[in-house]
Amino acid sequence: MRRFPKGFLWGTSSAAHQVEGDNRNCDWWEWEQEPGRIAGGDTSVIACDSYRRYREDIALLRDLKQNAHRLSVEWSRIEPSEGVFDARQVRHYRDVLGEMREQGISPMVTLHHFTNPLWFIRKGGWTSPDAPRAFVPYVHRVIDELGDLVDFWCTINEPSIYAANGWVTGEFPPGRHGDLAAQYRVTRNLRRAHELAYLVIKRRWPDSQVGLSHHKFLFLPGSSRRRDRLAARAVQTVTDRWPVGPGRLRPIVEATSDYIGIAHYWGQMCAFDPRRPQTQFIRRFNPPGPVNEMGFVSDPSWMRGVLNELARYRKPVYITENGLATVDDARREQYLTDVLGEVHAAIEDGVDVRGYFHWTNLDNFEWARGYTCHFGLVAVDRKTLERTVKPSARLYARIATANGLGS
Ligand code: BGC
Repeated sequence: MRRFPKGFLWGTSSAAHQVEGDNRNCDWWEWEQEPGRIAGGDTSVIACDSYRRYREDIALLRDLKQNAHRLSVEWSRIEPSEGVFDARQVRHYRDVLGEMREQGISPMVTLHHFTNPLWFIRKGGWTSPDAPRAFVPYVHRVIDELGDLVDFWCTINEPSIYAANGWVTGEFPPGRHGDLAAQYRVTRNLRRAHELAYLVIKRRWPDSQVGLSHHKFLFLPGSSRRRDRLAARAVQTVTDRWPVGPGRLRPIVEATSDYIGIAHYWGQMCAFDPRRPQTQFIRRFNPPGPVNEMGFVSDPSWMRGVLNELARYRKPVYITENGLATVDDARREQYLTDVLGEVHAAIEDGVDVRGYFHWTNLDNFEWARGYTCHFGLVAVDRKTLERTVKPSARLYARIATANGLGS
C-alpha cells in the first residue's frame, strides 16, 4: 500500500456557475444567450440544479468518502448591483458551507471562478484599471459573513486561462481574439486582485490558508531541436509567469500565498514555425496518444514533474483540479490510479502535497463546450437530473478511505 500523509485532503472541485443553475446576473449568462457560443446551443439554465439540491449533493460527497470539497461562491448573486449585497444569497452560502462542515467535509472556497456581475462588466470588467479595487468590497462581505466556516480560500481561479480564453482564443466572454495587450492587462489586474484579497482575508482570519489556483498547461518541445525547445519554453513562460517579471515570481508567491494551488490536466507540443506570425511563429499540436472530449491529450506521468517544479517555493501544495473528460469510465479509473501514483511519487520526492481535488464530482456545464464533456465521477441525467454514481467514484472512495493506493 502506498500511503498518503496523515490528514491528506481527498476531494472534488466545482464552480458555482457550472453546477448551480439559474445564475442569470452574470456575463456568462448573457454570453450563453448569443447563438453559436455554446456547443449544441446548451445553456446553464438548470446546470445540475445544485443551488437547490445542495443537501443531496453534499450527502453524496460524504457517501463517497470525500473529506474536502472545492466550490465557488457567486459574486453576481452576492453583490447584484455595485455596493448592494443580497443577505439572502449570503445566507444560502452559509447554509451550504454549514452543511458541508456538518457532514465532515472541509470546504475550499473560490471567490472568482470565471463569472462576473453584469454591473462590473458594464464598468469595463477586468481590463479596467479600477477592477482590482471593485472586487474588494465583495471579498470583505464574503469573509466577514462566511469566514468562520472556511479554512481554505482560493482567491482567483486560473488567471491565465481566464485572460487567454476571453481575449486571445475568444472562447469565453468578451470573445476577443488575439488581443495580447488586453490579455496582459487582465492578468495583471487579476494578480493585483489576488494580492488585495489575500491581505483582506489574512487580516481578518490570520489562521486561514489563502492561495489561488494556477492552471498548469504543460508545453513540451515538439522535437529535440533547439528552436523547438525555445518555442516550448517561451509559451510556458508566458502562461506561467506573465505579467510577473523575471525572478519576481518567488518573492510574490512568498508574500501573498500560504499554499500553491495547481490545476493540471493536459499538455501540448510546440514547434517553431516561420509561417505563423499570427501565433508568434509557434505551432502547437497534440502529442501522440488518445485525446479526451476536450480534444487534448492527458498523460498522468506529467503530474510528477509538474509537482516537483513547485518544491522550490517550499509551500504546501494542493492540486486544485485534475481529471479526464470521457464517457469511458474505465479510462477514468485507470487515469485516476495512475495520476495518484504520480502524486504519491512526488510526495516521496519531497514535495509537500497536502490534498487532491478531482475535477469533478458531477458531470456539469463545461463552459463553451456545454454538456459535451464528462469529467464527473457521478453522471447527471440531462432530463431528470438524476445522479448516478460511476465506478470511478467508488474507486476514489476506496482510495480516500484507505488514504492510499493498493499495489
Ligand atoms: C476550469 C474548470 C473547467 C475545467 C475543465 C479548468 O480550467 O477551472 O472550470 O471545467 O478546467 O475544462
